[in-house]
Amino acid sequence: RPGADEWVPGSRSLPRLREAAEACRGCELHRDATQTVFGRGRARSRLVLVGEQPGDQEDRTGKPFVGPAGKLLDEAMEQAGIDRRDAYLTNAVKHFRFVERGKRRLHQKPAVGNVVACHPWLRAEVQAVRPEIIIALGATAARALLGHPVTVGSVRGEVLDATEETGTPVLVTTHPSALLRVPEPADREAAFRALVDDLRTAANWTP
Ligand code: URA
Ligand code: SF4
Repeated sequence: RPGADEWVPGSRSLPRLREAAEACRGCELHRDATQTVFGRGRARSRLVLVGEQPGDQEDRTGKPFVGPAGKLLDEAMEQAGIDRRDAYLTNAVKHFRFVERGKRRLHQKPAVGNVVACHPWLRAEVQAVRPEIIIALGATAARALLGHPVTVGSVRGEVLDATEETGTPVLVTTHPSALLRVPEPADREAAFRALVDDLRTAANWTP
């Protein structure tokens, strides 16, 4: 079977998983990216947050959510009362997908094939951390966690029942980088507040 399966060890220790993921060749994205960007955070967290894929700065540093979207997410988490040190942050896809335009590397949305190929890593991380709830940031994370496509706007802010994909309830919200593309400051502020509200809903939810 294609995908990451043959690289994922049986171990549910995050350091072991992280080390093994460095060598993953489960899809073509490892070829052009700098490195695997594995999740980071507390090994036993109540909350797991899942983004789409590493961006330019994440690809260079090897850490998730360190670029502009990560800064915005930090602010939103802080306002929602979530300590980043008490959460585990990762992505649906562990390698940066981009196209080169001169000296710049432009983000390209991962293909469904990349999301499916990379899913064994996400499942292993969730099995290792065993959170009470997972926050899907945007449609790609939602697809990875639910196993089928959803429209973010139609499900956002609701705690969805655990699915077979991870065995954990999922709350879908917008991706912070979507906020960076909202042109009107007032609209951006409203979208930011909605993100904070969703994060707070997840943080306050109990099984
Ligand atoms: N966007 C993501 O989805 N993940 C990151 O790690 C950074 C930006
Ligand atoms: Fe492996 Fe995921 Fe990277 Fe593809 S994106 S090579 S499946 S770690």
